[in-house]
Amino acid sequence: MYRDHNNSELNISSLNKKVTLSGWVQKIRDKGFIIWVDLRDRYGITQLVFDSERTSTAVIEQARELGREFVIQVEGQVLERESKNKHMSTGDIEVLVEKLTVLNASEIPPFTIEDKTDGGEDLRMKYRYLDIRRNPVKNKLIFRSKVSMAVRNYLSQQDFVEVETPYLIKSTPEGARDFVVPSRMNAGQFYALPQSPQTFKQLLMVGGLDKYFQIVKCFRDEDLRADRQPEFTQIDCEMTFVEQEDILNTFEGLTKHLLKEINNVEVKAFPRMTYDEAMKTYGNDKPDIRFGMKFGELNSVAQHKDFKVFNEAELVVGIAVPGAASYSRKEIDKLIDWVKRPQVGAKGMVYVKYNEDGTLKSSVDKFYDEADLKAWVEQTHAQPGDLICVLSGDANTTRGQLSALRMEMGNRLGLRKPNEFAPLWVIDFPLLEWDEDTKRYHAMHHPFTSPKAGQIPLLATDPGAVKANAYDLVLNGNEIGGGSIRIHDQKTQALMFDYLGFSKEEAEAQFGFLMKAFTYGAPPHGGIAFGLDRLVAILGGQESIRDFIAFPKNNSGRDIMIDAPAPIDEEQLKELDLKLRS
Ligand code: AMO
Repeated sequence: MYRDHNNSELNISSLNKKVTLSGWVQKIRDKGFIIWVDLRDRYGITQLVFDSERTSTAVIEQARELGREFVIQVEGQVLERESKNKHMSTGDIEVLVEKLTVLNASEIPPFTIEDKTDGGEDLRMKYRYLDIRRNPVKNKLIFRSKVSMAVRNYLSQQDFVEVETPYLIKSTPEGARDFVVPSRMNAGQFYALPQSPQTFKQLLMVGGLDKYFQIVKCFRDEDLRADRQPEFTQIDCEMTFVEQEDILNTFEGLTKHLLKEINNVEVKAFPRMTYDEAMKTYGNDKPDIRFGMKFGELNSVAQHKDFKVFNEAELVVGIAVPGAASYSRKEIDKLIDWVKRPQVGAKGMVYVKYNEDGTLKSSVDKFYDEADLKAWVEQTHAQPGDLICVLSGDANTTRGQLSALRMEMGNRLGLRKPNEFAPLWVIDFPLLEWDEDTKRYHAMHHPFTSPKAGQIPLLATDPGAVKANAYDLVLNGNEIGGGSIRIHDQKTQALMFDYLGFSKEEAEAQFGFLMKAFTYGAPPHGGIAFGLDRLVAILGGQESIRDFIAFPKNNSGRDIMIDAPAPIDEEQLKELDLKLRS
Protein backbone atom coordinates (compact mmCIF):
# COMPACT_ATOMS: atom_id res chain seq x y z
CA MET A 1 0.00 0.00 0.00
CA TYR A 2 1.46 3.34 -1.02
CA ARG A 3 -0.43 5.39 1.54
CA ASP A 4 -3.09 5.20 4.22
CA HIS A 5 -3.74 8.95 4.34
CA ASN A 6 -3.43 11.74 1.85
CA ASN A 7 -1.40 14.84 2.64
CA SER A 8 -4.25 16.98 3.91
CA GLU A 9 -5.85 14.52 6.30
CA LEU A 10 -3.69 14.31 9.39
CA ASN A 11 -4.39 16.69 12.25
CA ILE A 12 -4.23 16.89 16.02
CA SER A 13 -6.70 14.00 16.38
CA SER A 14 -4.19 11.76 14.59
CA LEU A 15 -1.44 12.22 17.24
CA ASN A 16 0.90 9.26 17.73
CA LYS A 17 -0.63 7.31 14.84
CA LYS A 18 1.73 5.30 12.66
CA VAL A 19 1.06 6.40 9.10
CA THR A 20 2.23 5.78 5.54
CA LEU A 21 2.25 8.73 3.15
CA SER A 22 3.27 9.25 -0.46
CA GLY A 23 3.79 12.35 -2.52
CA TRP A 24 6.19 14.83 -4.07
CA VAL A 25 8.95 16.69 -2.25
CA GLN A 26 7.85 20.31 -2.25
CA LYS A 27 10.54 21.83 -0.06
CA ILE A 28 13.51 20.74 2.02
CA ARG A 29 14.92 22.66 4.99
CA ASP A 30 18.14 21.14 6.28
CA LYS A 31 19.23 22.59 9.63
CA GLY A 32 21.97 20.00 10.11
CA PHE A 33 20.64 18.17 13.13
CA ILE A 34 17.09 18.31 11.81
CA ILE A 35 15.60 18.16 8.31
CA TRP A 36 12.08 19.18 7.39
CA VAL A 37 10.50 18.10 4.14
CA ASP A 38 7.15 19.32 2.84
CA LEU A 39 5.38 16.39 1.22
CA ARG A 40 2.78 17.38 -1.36
CA ASP A 41 -0.02 15.65 -3.21
CA ARG A 42 -3.23 16.86 -4.83
CA TYR A 43 -4.88 17.28 -1.45
CA GLY A 44 -2.30 19.25 0.47
CA ILE A 45 1.01 19.28 2.27
CA THR A 46 2.24 17.34 5.28
CA GLN A 47 5.43 18.32 7.05
CA LEU A 48 7.88 15.48 7.51
CA VAL A 49 10.65 15.65 10.05
CA PHE A 50 13.96 13.79 10.12
CA ASP A 51 15.62 14.31 13.46
CA SER A 52 19.17 13.11 14.23
CA GLU A 53 18.13 12.11 17.73
CA ARG A 54 15.10 10.08 16.76
CA THR A 55 15.60 9.07 13.11
CA SER A 56 18.17 6.47 12.11
CA THR A 57 21.35 7.76 10.49
CA ALA A 58 20.67 5.71 7.38
CA VAL A 59 17.30 7.39 6.86
CA ILE A 60 18.79 10.84 7.51
CA GLU A 61 21.45 10.10 4.90
CA GLN A 62 18.68 9.14 2.48
CA ALA A 63 16.82 12.38 3.24
CA ARG A 64 19.94 14.37 2.40
CA GLU A 65 19.83 12.87 -1.10
CA LEU A 66 16.31 14.11 -1.79
CA GLY A 67 15.59 16.88 -4.25
CA ARG A 68 12.56 18.91 -5.24
CA GLU A 69 9.81 16.91 -6.94
CA PHE A 70 11.22 13.51 -5.94
CA VAL A 71 8.37 11.05 -5.45
CA ILE A 72 8.70 9.39 -2.07
CA GLN A 73 6.90 7.17 0.36
CA VAL A 74 7.41 7.49 4.10
CA GLU A 75 6.35 5.63 7.19
CA GLY A 76 6.39 7.41 10.49
CA GLN A 77 4.57 8.72 13.51
CA VAL A 78 2.28 11.75 13.81
CA LEU A 79 3.61 14.25 16.35
CA GLU A 80 2.44 17.64 17.52
CA ARG A 81 4.41 20.49 15.98
CA GLU A 82 6.24 22.97 18.09
CA SER A 83 5.50 25.94 15.86
CA LYS A 84 2.05 25.48 14.36
CA ASN A 85 0.80 26.80 11.02
CA LYS A 86 -2.80 27.96 11.26
CA HIS A 87 -3.07 28.26 7.46
CA MET A 88 -2.66 24.53 6.80
CA SER A 89 -5.12 21.74 7.58
CA THR A 90 -2.11 19.69 8.74
CA GLY A 91 -0.46 22.69 10.38
CA ASP A 92 -0.66 21.32 13.93
CA ILE A 93 1.27 18.15 13.25
CA GLU A 94 4.33 16.71 11.56
CA VAL A 95 5.34 13.16 10.76
CA LEU A 96 8.56 11.86 12.28
CA VAL A 97 9.94 9.64 9.54
CA GLU A 98 11.11 6.14 10.34
CA LYS A 99 11.32 4.72 6.83
CA LEU A 100 11.87 6.49 3.51
CA THR A 101 11.50 4.99 0.04
CA VAL A 102 12.32 6.96 -3.06
CA LEU A 103 9.69 5.90 -5.62
CA ASN A 104 11.16 8.06 -8.34
CA ALA A 105 13.81 10.72 -8.56
CA SER A 106 13.21 13.98 -10.42
CA GLU A 107 15.25 16.31 -12.55
CA ILE A 108 15.31 19.86 -11.24
CA PRO A 109 12.02 21.29 -12.60
CA PRO A 110 12.41 24.09 -15.17
CA PHE A 111 10.31 26.42 -13.03
CA THR A 112 9.28 26.51 -9.39
CA ILE A 113 6.23 24.46 -8.51
CA GLU A 114 4.76 27.15 -6.28
CA ASP A 115 1.55 29.17 -6.37
CA LYS A 116 3.58 32.06 -7.73
CA THR A 117 6.04 30.59 -10.20
CA ASP A 118 9.03 32.02 -12.01
CA GLY A 119 8.05 30.11 -15.18
CA GLY A 120 7.00 32.08 -18.26
CA GLU A 121 3.92 31.14 -20.29
CA ASP A 122 5.77 29.13 -22.94
CA LEU A 123 7.83 27.17 -20.45
CA ARG A 124 4.77 26.34 -18.40
CA MET A 125 2.95 25.17 -21.54
CA LYS A 126 5.85 23.00 -22.59
CA TYR A 127 5.87 21.33 -19.20
CA ARG A 128 2.14 21.49 -18.65
CA TYR A 129 2.19 18.36 -16.46
CA LEU A 130 4.42 20.24 -14.02
CA ASP A 131 2.23 23.33 -14.22
CA ILE A 132 -0.74 21.16 -13.30
CA ARG A 133 1.05 20.29 -10.04
CA ARG A 134 0.72 23.96 -9.06
CA ASN A 135 -2.34 24.86 -6.99
CA PRO A 136 -3.72 27.61 -9.24
CA VAL A 137 -3.83 25.35 -12.30
CA LYS A 138 -4.80 22.16 -10.47
CA ASN A 139 -7.63 23.94 -8.66
CA LYS A 140 -9.03 25.28 -11.92
CA LEU A 141 -9.21 21.77 -13.35
CA ILE A 142 -10.92 20.50 -10.22
CA PHE A 143 -13.29 23.47 -10.41
CA ARG A 144 -14.11 22.61 -14.01
CA SER A 145 -14.90 19.04 -13.05
CA LYS A 146 -17.25 20.31 -10.36
CA VAL A 147 -19.10 22.52 -12.85
CA SER A 148 -19.40 19.68 -15.40
CA MET A 149 -20.79 17.37 -12.72
CA ALA A 150 -23.32 19.96 -11.60
CA VAL A 151 -24.42 20.44 -15.22
CA ARG A 152 -24.79 16.68 -15.77
CA ASN A 153 -26.73 16.20 -12.57
CA TYR A 154 -29.08 19.08 -13.25
CA LEU A 155 -29.85 18.18 -16.84
CA SER A 156 -30.23 14.47 -16.07
CA GLN A 157 -32.72 15.33 -13.36
CA GLN A 158 -34.65 17.35 -15.93
CA ASP A 159 -34.88 14.25 -18.15
CA PHE A 160 -32.24 15.24 -20.68
CA VAL A 161 -30.57 12.26 -22.33
CA GLU A 162 -26.83 12.44 -22.92
CA VAL A 163 -25.99 11.24 -26.41
CA GLU A 164 -22.62 11.15 -28.13
CA THR A 165 -22.57 12.36 -31.70
CA PRO A 166 -19.80 11.61 -34.20
CA TYR A 167 -16.60 13.61 -34.62
CA LEU A 168 -15.87 12.48 -38.17
CA ILE A 169 -18.57 14.30 -40.05
CA LYS A 170 -19.31 16.65 -42.89
CA SER A 171 -18.92 20.39 -42.58
CA THR A 172 -21.52 22.22 -40.43
CA PRO A 173 -21.52 25.94 -41.06
CA GLU A 174 -21.07 27.71 -37.71
CA GLY A 175 -19.13 30.56 -39.19
CA ALA A 176 -15.55 29.31 -38.80
CA ARG A 177 -13.30 27.20 -40.99
CA ASP A 178 -13.38 23.44 -40.60
CA PHE A 179 -10.57 21.20 -39.46
CA VAL A 180 -10.52 18.36 -41.95
CA VAL A 181 -9.39 14.77 -41.71
CA PRO A 182 -8.39 12.85 -44.83
CA SER A 183 -9.99 9.44 -45.30
CA ARG A 184 -7.67 6.54 -46.17
CA MET A 185 -10.48 4.26 -47.22
CA ASN A 186 -12.05 6.92 -49.39
CA ALA A 187 -9.06 8.41 -51.13
CA GLY A 188 -9.36 12.07 -51.99
CA GLN A 189 -12.23 12.54 -49.54
CA PHE A 190 -12.27 14.28 -46.20
CA TYR A 191 -14.22 14.31 -43.01
CA ALA A 192 -14.71 17.59 -41.22
CA LEU A 193 -14.49 17.77 -37.44
CA PRO A 194 -17.71 19.24 -36.04
CA GLN A 195 -17.81 22.97 -35.33
CA SER A 196 -20.75 21.87 -33.21
CA PRO A 197 -23.12 18.87 -33.23
CA GLN A 198 -25.86 21.16 -34.58
CA THR A 199 -27.38 18.97 -37.29
CA PHE A 200 -27.04 15.78 -35.24
CA LYS A 201 -28.90 17.19 -32.28
CA GLN A 202 -31.69 18.28 -34.59
CA LEU A 203 -31.81 14.76 -36.03
CA LEU A 204 -32.06 13.40 -32.48
CA MET A 205 -35.20 15.51 -32.10
CA VAL A 206 -36.56 14.07 -35.34
CA GLY A 207 -35.66 10.73 -33.73
CA GLY A 208 -38.01 11.55 -30.87
CA LEU A 209 -35.46 11.80 -28.01
CA ASP A 210 -37.23 14.96 -26.84
CA LYS A 211 -34.45 16.35 -24.62
CA TYR A 212 -30.79 15.90 -25.48
CA PHE A 213 -27.56 17.17 -24.02
CA GLN A 214 -23.90 16.46 -24.49
CA ILE A 215 -20.71 17.83 -23.02
CA VAL A 216 -18.85 17.77 -26.28
CA LYS A 217 -15.66 18.86 -28.00
CA CYS A 218 -16.10 21.25 -30.94
CA PHE A 219 -13.45 22.26 -33.43
CA ARG A 220 -13.15 25.60 -35.16
CA ASP A 221 -10.28 26.86 -37.23
CA GLU A 222 -10.45 30.54 -36.33
CA ASP A 223 -8.19 33.24 -34.94
CA LEU A 224 -7.48 32.68 -31.28
CA ARG A 225 -8.10 35.02 -28.38
CA ALA A 226 -8.17 34.74 -24.61
CA ASP A 227 -11.69 33.30 -24.77
CA ARG A 228 -11.21 31.14 -27.87
CA GLN A 229 -9.51 27.83 -28.49
CA PRO A 230 -9.47 25.78 -31.71
CA GLU A 231 -10.92 22.88 -29.77
CA PHE A 232 -13.26 23.77 -26.98
CA THR A 233 -16.17 22.21 -25.13
CA GLN A 234 -19.86 22.92 -25.37
CA ILE A 235 -22.73 21.95 -23.16
CA ASP A 236 -24.89 21.26 -26.17
CA CYS A 237 -28.65 21.00 -25.68
CA GLU A 238 -31.80 20.55 -27.75
CA MET A 239 -35.49 20.22 -26.87
CA THR A 240 -38.66 19.27 -28.73
CA PHE A 241 -42.05 21.02 -28.68
CA VAL A 242 -40.58 24.20 -27.30
CA GLU A 243 -40.77 27.89 -28.00
CA GLN A 244 -38.08 30.44 -27.22
CA GLU A 245 -39.64 31.10 -23.82
CA ASP A 246 -39.32 27.44 -22.81
CA ILE A 247 -35.64 27.36 -23.72
CA LEU A 248 -34.86 30.60 -21.93
CA ASN A 249 -36.61 29.37 -18.78
CA THR A 250 -34.96 25.96 -18.80
CA PHE A 251 -31.44 27.30 -19.24
CA GLU A 252 -31.96 30.22 -16.92
CA GLY A 253 -32.77 27.46 -14.44
CA LEU A 254 -29.52 25.65 -15.20
CA THR A 255 -27.46 28.85 -14.90
CA LYS A 256 -29.11 29.83 -11.62
CA HIS A 257 -28.48 26.35 -10.29
CA LEU A 258 -24.79 26.60 -11.18
CA LEU A 259 -24.42 30.05 -9.64
CA LYS A 260 -25.99 28.76 -6.43
CA GLU A 261 -24.20 25.41 -6.35
CA ILE A 262 -20.77 26.62 -7.43
CA ASN A 263 -20.62 30.24 -6.29
CA ASN A 264 -23.33 30.32 -3.64
CA VAL A 265 -24.86 33.31 -5.38
CA GLU A 266 -28.60 33.74 -5.81
CA VAL A 267 -29.64 35.70 -8.89
CA LYS A 268 -33.16 36.94 -9.57
CA ALA A 269 -34.87 36.62 -12.98
CA PHE A 270 -32.33 37.34 -15.72
CA PRO A 271 -32.95 40.64 -17.49
CA ARG A 272 -33.60 40.48 -21.22
CA MET A 273 -32.52 42.97 -23.84
CA THR A 274 -33.06 42.98 -27.56
CA TYR A 275 -30.05 42.91 -29.82
CA ASP A 276 -30.96 46.38 -31.11
CA GLU A 277 -31.16 47.79 -27.60
CA ALA A 278 -27.84 46.20 -26.62
CA MET A 279 -26.11 47.71 -29.64
CA LYS A 280 -27.66 51.14 -29.06
CA THR A 281 -27.02 51.25 -25.32
CA TYR A 282 -23.70 49.43 -25.05
CA GLY A 283 -22.40 49.21 -28.63
CA ASN A 284 -22.05 45.50 -28.11
CA ASP A 285 -24.21 42.36 -28.32
CA LYS A 286 -22.69 41.01 -25.11
CA PRO A 287 -22.77 43.94 -22.74
CA ASP A 288 -21.33 43.77 -19.27
CA ILE A 289 -24.22 45.18 -17.24
CA ARG A 290 -22.37 45.10 -13.92
CA PHE A 291 -21.70 48.78 -14.50
CA GLY A 292 -23.32 51.78 -16.18
CA MET A 293 -21.64 54.18 -18.63
CA LYS A 294 -24.56 53.70 -20.98
CA PHE A 295 -24.22 55.32 -24.37
CA GLY A 296 -25.73 58.77 -24.87
CA GLU A 297 -26.41 59.55 -28.52
CA LEU A 298 -25.52 63.16 -29.23
CA ASN A 299 -26.42 63.76 -32.87
CA SER A 300 -29.35 66.01 -31.99
CA VAL A 301 -27.30 68.10 -29.55
CA ALA A 302 -23.94 68.16 -31.33
CA GLN A 303 -24.65 68.63 -35.01
CA HIS A 304 -26.08 72.17 -34.93
CA LYS A 305 -22.76 74.02 -34.75
CA ASP A 306 -19.74 74.41 -37.02
CA PHE A 307 -17.80 71.39 -35.83
CA LYS A 308 -17.26 69.61 -39.11
CA VAL A 309 -16.08 66.31 -37.64
CA PHE A 310 -19.40 65.83 -35.84
CA ASN A 311 -21.53 67.27 -38.62
CA GLU A 312 -20.15 64.76 -41.08
CA ALA A 313 -20.53 61.80 -38.76
CA GLU A 314 -23.32 59.27 -38.99
CA LEU A 315 -23.22 58.92 -35.20
CA VAL A 316 -21.93 61.10 -32.38
CA VAL A 317 -22.03 59.17 -29.14
CA GLY A 318 -20.56 59.49 -25.66
CA ILE A 319 -20.22 57.91 -22.26
CA ALA A 320 -19.75 59.51 -18.85
CA VAL A 321 -16.76 57.97 -17.12
CA PRO A 322 -17.33 58.20 -13.35
CA GLY A 323 -14.89 60.35 -11.44
CA ALA A 324 -12.59 60.95 -14.39
CA ALA A 325 -13.09 64.74 -14.61
CA SER A 326 -10.06 64.99 -12.35
CA TYR A 327 -7.82 63.44 -15.02
CA SER A 328 -4.84 65.63 -15.89
CA ARG A 329 -4.23 66.78 -19.43
CA LYS A 330 -1.56 64.10 -19.67
CA GLU A 331 -3.92 61.35 -18.53
CA ILE A 332 -6.55 62.43 -21.01
CA ASP A 333 -3.97 62.52 -23.81
CA LYS A 334 -3.05 58.96 -22.88
CA LEU A 335 -6.70 57.97 -23.10
CA ILE A 336 -6.94 59.59 -26.52
CA ASP A 337 -3.87 57.63 -27.60
CA TRP A 338 -5.56 54.52 -26.29
CA VAL A 339 -8.67 54.95 -28.47
CA LYS A 340 -6.40 55.72 -31.44
CA ARG A 341 -4.52 52.41 -31.12
CA PRO A 342 -5.07 50.27 -34.21
CA GLN A 343 -6.92 47.68 -32.09
CA VAL A 344 -9.58 50.31 -31.30
CA GLY A 345 -9.15 52.52 -34.32
CA ALA A 346 -10.83 55.81 -33.38
CA LYS A 347 -9.57 58.91 -35.18
CA GLY A 348 -9.75 61.00 -32.05
CA MET A 349 -11.82 61.72 -28.98
CA VAL A 350 -13.68 64.77 -27.81
CA TYR A 351 -14.08 65.19 -24.07
CA VAL A 352 -16.00 67.25 -21.59
CA LYS A 353 -14.93 67.62 -17.98
CA TYR A 354 -18.02 67.92 -15.82
CA ASN A 355 -16.23 69.28 -12.78
CA GLU A 356 -17.31 68.68 -9.19
CA ASP A 357 -18.32 72.36 -8.89
CA GLY A 358 -20.69 71.95 -11.85
CA THR A 359 -18.55 73.84 -14.35
CA LEU A 360 -17.98 72.36 -17.80
CA LYS A 361 -14.76 72.39 -19.77
CA SER A 362 -14.45 70.67 -23.12
CA SER A 363 -11.88 70.06 -25.82
CA VAL A 364 -14.28 71.71 -28.27
CA ASP A 365 -15.08 74.91 -26.34
CA LYS A 366 -14.49 76.77 -29.58
CA PHE A 367 -17.69 75.30 -31.00
CA TYR A 368 -19.95 74.56 -28.08
CA ASP A 369 -21.17 76.77 -25.24
CA GLU A 370 -22.28 75.75 -21.77
CA ALA A 371 -25.90 75.23 -22.80
CA ASP A 372 -24.77 72.81 -25.54
CA LEU A 373 -22.58 70.88 -23.15
CA LYS A 374 -25.38 70.71 -20.58
CA ALA A 375 -27.42 68.84 -23.17
CA TRP A 376 -24.54 66.37 -23.56
CA VAL A 377 -24.51 65.93 -19.79
CA GLU A 378 -28.19 65.08 -19.92
CA GLN A 379 -27.86 62.62 -22.79
CA THR A 380 -24.97 60.75 -21.14
CA HIS A 381 -26.46 60.98 -17.62
CA ALA A 382 -23.17 62.45 -16.42
CA GLN A 383 -22.73 63.37 -12.76
CA PRO A 384 -20.44 66.11 -11.41
CA GLY A 385 -16.91 64.69 -11.41
CA ASP A 386 -17.43 62.65 -14.59
CA LEU A 387 -15.51 62.86 -17.83
CA ILE A 388 -17.69 62.64 -20.93
CA CYS A 389 -15.83 60.89 -23.74
CA VAL A 390 -17.29 61.35 -27.21
CA LEU A 391 -16.52 59.47 -30.42
CA SER A 392 -18.00 59.94 -33.85
CA GLY A 393 -18.06 58.44 -37.32
CA ASP A 394 -19.76 55.57 -39.06
CA ALA A 395 -22.41 54.23 -36.63
CA ASN A 396 -21.36 50.59 -36.34
CA THR A 397 -17.65 51.29 -36.12
CA THR A 398 -18.09 54.09 -33.61
CA ARG A 399 -20.30 51.96 -31.38
CA GLY A 400 -17.63 49.25 -31.41
CA GLN A 401 -14.91 51.75 -30.50
CA LEU A 402 -16.89 53.34 -27.69
CA SER A 403 -17.77 49.90 -26.39
CA ALA A 404 -14.06 49.07 -26.23
CA LEU A 405 -13.43 52.29 -24.31
CA ARG A 406 -16.33 51.54 -21.96
CA MET A 407 -14.92 48.09 -21.16
CA GLU A 408 -11.44 49.50 -20.70
CA MET A 409 -12.70 52.12 -18.26
CA GLY A 410 -14.80 49.45 -16.51
CA ASN A 411 -11.59 47.47 -16.00
CA ARG A 412 -9.49 50.44 -14.97
CA LEU A 413 -12.05 51.65 -12.47
CA GLY A 414 -12.48 48.18 -10.98
CA LEU A 415 -16.14 48.03 -11.97
CA ARG A 416 -15.87 44.53 -13.41
CA LYS A 417 -15.86 42.68 -10.12
CA PRO A 418 -15.12 38.99 -10.68
CA ASN A 419 -17.31 37.81 -7.82
CA GLU A 420 -20.36 39.74 -8.95
CA PHE A 421 -22.54 37.99 -11.53
CA ALA A 422 -24.78 39.79 -13.98
CA PRO A 423 -26.40 37.40 -16.45
CA LEU A 424 -28.39 38.78 -19.35
CA TRP A 425 -30.41 37.30 -22.21
CA VAL A 426 -29.86 39.09 -25.48
CA ILE A 427 -32.80 38.25 -27.75
CA ASP A 428 -34.23 39.08 -31.18
CA PHE A 429 -30.97 38.80 -33.06
CA PRO A 430 -31.07 39.64 -36.76
CA LEU A 431 -31.42 36.53 -38.89
CA LEU A 432 -28.82 37.67 -41.38
CA GLU A 433 -25.63 39.65 -41.28
CA TRP A 434 -24.07 41.52 -44.19
CA ASP A 435 -20.57 40.42 -45.03
CA GLU A 436 -18.53 43.15 -46.67
CA ASP A 437 -15.88 40.73 -47.96
CA THR A 438 -18.20 38.42 -49.86
CA LYS A 439 -20.80 41.16 -50.43
CA ARG A 440 -23.63 38.97 -49.34
CA TYR A 441 -25.76 38.02 -46.33
CA HIS A 442 -24.69 35.24 -43.98
CA ALA A 443 -26.74 33.55 -41.29
CA MET A 444 -25.90 35.44 -38.12
CA HIS A 445 -26.34 32.37 -35.90
CA HIS A 446 -26.52 29.47 -38.35
CA PRO A 447 -28.70 28.57 -41.34
CA PHE A 448 -31.01 26.35 -39.28
CA THR A 449 -32.33 29.26 -37.22
CA SER A 450 -35.96 30.22 -37.78
CA PRO A 451 -37.03 33.74 -38.61
CA LYS A 452 -39.62 35.30 -36.30
CA ALA A 453 -43.21 34.48 -37.18
CA GLY A 454 -44.50 36.32 -40.21
CA GLN A 455 -41.12 37.75 -41.22
CA ILE A 456 -40.32 35.47 -44.14
CA PRO A 457 -41.76 37.92 -46.72
CA LEU A 458 -39.35 40.58 -45.40
CA LEU A 459 -36.50 38.40 -46.64
CA ALA A 460 -37.27 39.53 -50.17
CA THR A 461 -37.52 43.25 -49.41
CA ASP A 462 -35.28 44.03 -46.43
CA PRO A 463 -33.26 40.96 -45.47
CA GLY A 464 -31.15 42.82 -42.89
CA ALA A 465 -34.28 43.72 -40.91
CA VAL A 466 -35.51 40.15 -40.43
CA LYS A 467 -35.28 39.09 -36.80
CA ALA A 468 -34.65 35.53 -35.68
CA ASN A 469 -35.77 33.39 -32.79
CA ALA A 470 -32.18 33.48 -31.67
CA TYR A 471 -30.75 34.33 -28.26
CA ASP A 472 -27.47 34.56 -26.42
CA LEU A 473 -26.78 34.17 -22.75
CA VAL A 474 -24.31 36.80 -21.63
CA LEU A 475 -22.52 36.68 -18.29
CA ASN A 476 -20.37 39.59 -17.17
CA GLY A 477 -19.76 40.78 -20.71
CA ASN A 478 -18.98 37.36 -22.16
CA GLU A 479 -21.11 35.35 -24.55
CA ILE A 480 -21.38 32.08 -22.71
CA GLY A 481 -24.20 30.54 -24.70
CA GLY A 482 -26.18 30.89 -27.87
CA GLY A 483 -29.05 29.13 -29.52
CA SER A 484 -32.24 29.39 -31.49
CA ILE A 485 -35.57 27.90 -32.39
CA ARG A 486 -34.97 25.91 -35.54
CA ILE A 487 -36.63 25.68 -38.87
CA HIS A 488 -38.36 22.29 -38.88
CA ASP A 489 -40.05 22.18 -42.24
CA GLN A 490 -38.28 21.31 -45.40
CA LYS A 491 -39.68 24.15 -47.49
CA THR A 492 -38.56 26.96 -45.18
CA GLN A 493 -35.14 25.33 -44.79
CA ALA A 494 -34.77 25.12 -48.59
CA LEU A 495 -35.84 28.77 -48.87
CA MET A 496 -33.26 29.75 -46.29
CA PHE A 497 -30.43 27.97 -48.11
CA ASP A 498 -31.58 29.74 -51.25
CA TYR A 499 -31.40 33.18 -49.54
CA LEU A 500 -27.98 32.32 -48.21
CA GLY A 501 -26.75 31.75 -51.72
CA PHE A 502 -26.60 27.96 -51.80
CA SER A 503 -27.66 26.52 -55.14
CA LYS A 504 -30.23 23.71 -54.94
CA GLU A 505 -27.48 21.22 -55.73
CA GLU A 506 -25.11 22.61 -53.09
CA ALA A 507 -27.85 22.61 -50.46
CA GLU A 508 -28.77 19.07 -51.38
CA ALA A 509 -25.16 17.88 -51.33
CA GLN A 510 -24.39 19.49 -47.98
CA PHE A 511 -27.68 19.28 -46.12
CA GLY A 512 -29.84 16.86 -48.10
CA PHE A 513 -29.87 14.48 -45.12
CA LEU A 514 -31.37 17.14 -42.87
CA MET A 515 -33.99 18.28 -45.35
CA LYS A 516 -34.94 14.67 -46.00
CA ALA A 517 -35.35 14.13 -42.24
CA PHE A 518 -37.64 17.14 -42.14
CA THR A 519 -40.01 15.34 -44.54
CA TYR A 520 -40.55 12.51 -42.04
CA GLY A 521 -42.44 14.31 -39.32
CA ALA A 522 -39.84 16.63 -37.80
CA PRO A 523 -41.26 18.17 -34.61
CA PRO A 524 -40.82 21.84 -33.69
CA HIS A 525 -37.58 22.09 -31.76
CA GLY A 526 -34.90 24.44 -30.52
CA GLY A 527 -31.87 24.55 -28.29
CA ILE A 528 -28.78 26.23 -27.07
CA ALA A 529 -25.10 25.54 -26.52
CA PHE A 530 -23.03 26.93 -23.68
CA GLY A 531 -19.31 27.36 -24.04
CA LEU A 532 -18.19 25.25 -21.07
CA ASP A 533 -14.67 26.66 -20.99
CA ARG A 534 -15.99 30.21 -20.86
CA LEU A 535 -18.70 29.41 -18.36
CA VAL A 536 -16.20 27.72 -16.05
CA ALA A 537 -13.69 30.57 -16.39
CA ILE A 538 -16.28 33.21 -15.55
CA LEU A 539 -17.74 31.28 -12.63
CA GLY A 540 -14.11 30.99 -11.52
CA GLY A 541 -13.79 34.79 -11.72
CA GLN A 542 -11.58 34.94 -14.83
CA GLU A 543 -11.95 35.65 -18.52
CA SER A 544 -9.07 33.67 -20.00
CA ILE A 545 -10.14 30.09 -20.61
CA ARG A 546 -6.67 28.65 -21.06
CA ASP A 547 -5.94 27.62 -17.51
CA PHE A 548 -9.32 25.93 -17.23
CA ILE A 549 -8.29 23.57 -20.03
CA ALA A 550 -5.88 20.79 -19.11
CA PHE A 551 -3.84 20.91 -22.31
CA PRO A 552 -4.63 24.11 -24.22
CA LYS A 553 -3.18 25.35 -27.49
CA ASN A 554 -1.13 28.54 -27.69
CA ASN A 555 -2.07 31.60 -29.75
CA SER A 556 -0.78 30.04 -32.94
CA GLY A 557 -2.92 26.98 -32.36
CA ARG A 558 0.05 24.85 -31.32
CA ASP A 559 0.37 22.38 -28.52
CA ILE A 560 3.97 23.11 -27.64
CA MET A 561 4.23 20.20 -25.23
CA ILE A 562 3.56 17.46 -27.78
CA ASP A 563 4.69 19.73 -30.62
CA ALA A 564 1.56 19.57 -32.74
CA PRO A 565 0.66 20.12 -35.50
CA ALA A 566 3.58 18.29 -37.10
CA PRO A 567 4.45 16.96 -40.53
CA ILE A 568 3.47 13.37 -41.26
CA ASP A 569 5.77 10.95 -43.02
CA GLU A 570 5.80 10.07 -46.70
CA GLU A 571 4.25 6.68 -46.04
CA GLN A 572 1.22 8.19 -44.32
CA LEU A 573 0.79 10.75 -47.07
CA LYS A 574 0.92 8.01 -49.67
CA GLU A 575 -1.62 5.94 -47.81
CA LEU A 576 -3.95 8.92 -47.74
CA ASP A 577 -3.28 9.63 -51.38
CA LEU A 578 -2.09 13.14 -50.46
CA LYS A 579 0.73 15.16 -51.95
CA LEU A 580 2.29 18.22 -50.38
CA ARG A 581 2.93 21.21 -52.55
CA SER A 582 6.68 21.65 -52.47
P1 AMO B 1 -22.29 29.13 -31.02
O1 AMO B 1 -21.49 29.14 -32.25
O2 AMO B 1 -22.88 30.43 -30.55
O3 AMO B 1 -23.56 28.17 -31.18
O4 AMO B 1 -21.45 28.48 -29.85
C1 AMO B 1 -21.98 28.30 -28.56
C2 AMO B 1 -21.02 28.79 -27.50
O5 AMO B 1 -19.77 28.15 -27.61
C3 AMO B 1 -18.74 29.02 -27.14
N1 AMO B 1 -17.67 29.10 -28.16
C4 AMO B 1 -16.36 28.99 -27.91
N2 AMO B 1 -15.68 28.80 -26.77
C5 AMO B 1 -14.33 28.71 -26.83
N3 AMO B 1 -13.62 28.76 -27.98
C6 AMO B 1 -14.26 28.95 -29.17
N4 AMO B 1 -13.54 28.99 -30.30
C7 AMO B 1 -15.69 29.08 -29.16
N5 AMO B 1 -16.62 29.26 -30.12
C8 AMO B 1 -17.81 29.27 -29.50
C9 AMO B 1 -19.37 30.36 -26.86
C10 AMO B 1 -20.68 30.26 -27.62
O6 AMO B 1 -21.70 31.04 -27.02
N6 AMO B 1 -24.75 25.05 -32.57
C11 AMO B 1 -24.90 26.35 -31.99
C12 AMO B 1 -25.73 26.32 -30.72
C13 AMO B 1 -27.21 26.20 -30.96
O7 AMO B 1 -27.73 26.87 -31.86
O8 AMO B 1 -27.86 25.47 -30.19
C14 AMO B 1 -23.52 26.90 -31.67
O9 AMO B 1 -22.52 26.24 -31.74
O10 AMO B 1 -19.61 30.46 -25.47
